[in-house]
Amino acid sequence: MLDAPAPMDVLYEKVKRVIPSVEWPVFVEDIDAILELKRQRKAVILAHNYQTPEIFHCVADIVGDSLALARKAAGTEADVILLAGVHFMAETAKLLNPEKTVLIPDLEAGCSLAESVTAEDVRLLRQRFPGIPIVTYVNTSAAVKAESDICCTSGNARAVVESLGVPRVIMLPDEYLARNIAAETNVEVIAWTGHCEVHERFTADDIRELRDTHPDIIVLAHPECPPEVVTEADFSGSTAAMSDYVERQKPRHVVLMTECSMSDNVAVAHPDVEFVRPCNLCPHMKRITLANIRAALEENRHEISIDPRIARRARSAVERMLAI
Ligand code: 13P
Ligand code: SF4
Repeated sequence: MLDAPAPMDVLYEKVKRVIPSVEWPVFVEDIDAILELKRQRKAVILAHNYQTPEIFHCVADIVGDSLALARKAAGTEADVILLAGVHFMAETAKLLNPEKTVLIPDLEAGCSLAESVTAEDVRLLRQRFPGIPIVTYVNTSAAVKAESDICCTSGNARAVVESLGVPRVIMLPDEYLARNIAAETNVEVIAWTGHCEVHERFTADDIRELRDTHPDIIVLAHPECPPEVVTEADFSGSTAAMSDYVERQKPRHVVLMTECSMSDNVAVAHPDVEFVRPCNLCPHMKRITLANIRAALEENRHEISIDPRIARRARSAVERMLAI
C-alpha cells in the first residue's frame, strides 16, 4: 500500500500555482507550529481575502470579506480569535465577542479610511445635520462606530442605506463608496472625504488600456475605487462578491481592481481563469505574516481591548447591521 502524502505536501499541492516551490520551505516550520498552537489554545484564525496565500490557504480557519468575518466571528466557539487582517477587523471581532481573547499580530496594521475620521468629526456632523442617520463603514475605529447609527460593509452598504427608509443619509468615511452607493439608490448620500490608499490609485484609463491589450477582459472593481473606475468596470462588489463572480461566471481573462493577494487567493481554485494584473498592495494587510501570527499565539499578543463605554454603543451599530 502507498503511504499517505505528508500533511505539508497536501497543503503545498493546494497552493503550488501561487507559491513557487523555492519559497515553500521558508513557510513550512511556521505553518506547522501555528497549526499546533491553534489546537493547544483552542484558537481560530480569521483571515481577510487580502492575506497572502500561505496565511489564507494554509493556516486560516475562516476566510472572507469584512462582512463574512464579522458574521463568523459572532458565531465562533473558540477561546481565542486571531485576526489576520487589519485593526478595525480585530476590533469588530472583539465587539462581537467581549468575553473572548482577540489577538492581532501587529498593532500597526491600520487602514487609511479608519485614520480619516475621528469620533469628534462624527459628533460635529451630527450637529450640522440633525436627524440625518449616520451610516459608518466598518473600516473605522470603535470610537467612530460608537457615534454612529448603523455600520455597513462594502457587501451590504446599499441594503443598509435602503433599510433606513429615509431620503438622506450621511455615509462615512469613504467618499468613493458613498458616491458609488448613491449612484445605485434613490437615497441622497452626504459623504465624508476619506479614501482607501490602495483603491484610489486605480484609474479609468487603466481599464481602457487593459481593454485595448486584452479585448475579452472582464473587469471587477471594488466599490472603494473612484466612481469613474466603477462605471468603466463590468462588475463592482465586495471582495467576496468578486470571488463569487469568478466562481459563477468563470471568465477566461479577468482583472480584479483591488489588493494583489486577492487574485492569488481566488486563482488557487480556478486554474482555467487567467488573472491579469494590475493590482495594488495594501501595506497594512501586508504587516501580517506567518512569523507574527506564530508569535501572537505563543506570546498572547496583541490583545484587543475596547473601553466598555465605547464598546456598548459601537456593538449596537454593528449588531444593527448584522440584523439586516
Ligand atoms: P471587503 O469588505 O470588501 O472585504 O473590503 C475590505 C477592505 O478593506 C477593502 O479594502
Ligand atoms: Fe484600508 Fe484600503 Fe487597506 Fe482595505 S485596502 S485595509 S480600505 S487601506
